Amino acid sequence: MPASHTDAIAWGPGGSVRLLDQTALPAEARWLTIASVEAMTEAIRSLRVRGAPLIGIAAAMGLAAEASRLAGEARPPQPSCQGWPTAEWLEAACRRLAAARPTAVNLRHTIERMRRAGLEAMRSGATGPALAQRLRTEAQAIWDEDAAMCQAIGECGQELIAPGARILTHCNAGMLATGGIGTALGAVYVAHQRGKAVSVIATETRPLGQGARLTAWELARAGIPCRVIVDGAAAWMMARHEVDLVIVGADRIAANGDVANKIGTYGLALLANCHRLPFYVAAPRSTFDPASPTGEAIPIEERRASEITGGPQGMNAWNPAFDVTPAALVTAIVTDRGVLRPPFGPAIAALGI
Ligand code: MRU
Repeated sequence: MPASHTDAIAWGPGGSVRLLDQTALPAEARWLTIASVEAMTEAIRSLRVRGAPLIGIAAAMGLAAEASRLAGEARPPQPSCQGWPTAEWLEAACRRLAAARPTAVNLRHTIERMRRAGLEAMRSGATGPALAQRLRTEAQAIWDEDAAMCQAIGECGQELIAPGARILTHCNAGMLATGGIGTALGAVYVAHQRGKAVSVIATETRPLGQGARLTAWELARAGIPCRVIVDGAAAWMMARHEVDLVIVGADRIAANGDVANKIGTYGLALLANCHRLPFYVAAPRSTFDPASPTGEAIPIEERRASEITGGPQGMNAWNPAFDVTPAALVTAIVTDRGVLRPPFGPAIAALGI
């Protein structure tokens, strides 16, 4: 792990969760303390915490935090409760968190895992603090596994990066988006550690600026050269031969290798293909969705018009947060289990997810 590692999440006092509020970056490193499912749902919806793997981890930790709080309360709300927190509470909390953002499949995967862990613990008689502890242990395991998968992605991904490479990335797929060193940026960090003298071109990532605000911030802290460009400059930069490869993260990868990621990713894939540049996607196994046969099945989040127009002036806008890049435009998918090459269908099936 780089000496400058930035955790975007931590456990807080009394089983609460501490979150680095990413909407305040880079101006301010503001930490929030969250102890309820309602507050965690709001933090996920408003992108205070974001990035597919980190959303999943945050939701799991938020669930455990609320369980701790409820378990610490003197009495269950109804005398008939068999144990508090209850199964009804768990089901409702899981539904609420899972609905916070629709595209990143990691959220659904981790919530389902937490739900099963909670129900299983209840069946074996755990209530109150014991149940809360079981949920916290599961959330910590999800976090630890993600950190390990990021490291493995970094090791595999760096093999695709030549010394001196100028790497274009979109959005933020680094330490601020995962529980570890990141996915796309994980490969960059490991290449940097191996002395490859890489540099990064971060697309601004309209409309919320994850590239300009977050990728540039975390790379500066790690001492990796990074230049921010407006999204519209990518084509011209490639035409000037100033980009060697593109690597991005993913919010969901369908069974055939179609990739949902931040809006603008599809355009970058088209540009990379046009300029004969490799277009890589880096993602852990938790981002693959065997239930989506192709990208058409992936729900695409649409966000408020005001994120583009800047206010409630009645201006019309369409604001999809993600797009789908067809598998045919992807050179390789870097996973924690190795680098997948086309045809992706059989390669993904062989991951056994
Ligand atoms: O809307 P965001 O900021 O949550 O979108 C994040 C992305 O699109 C990332 O590229 C993706 O989640 C991969 S993060 C490792």
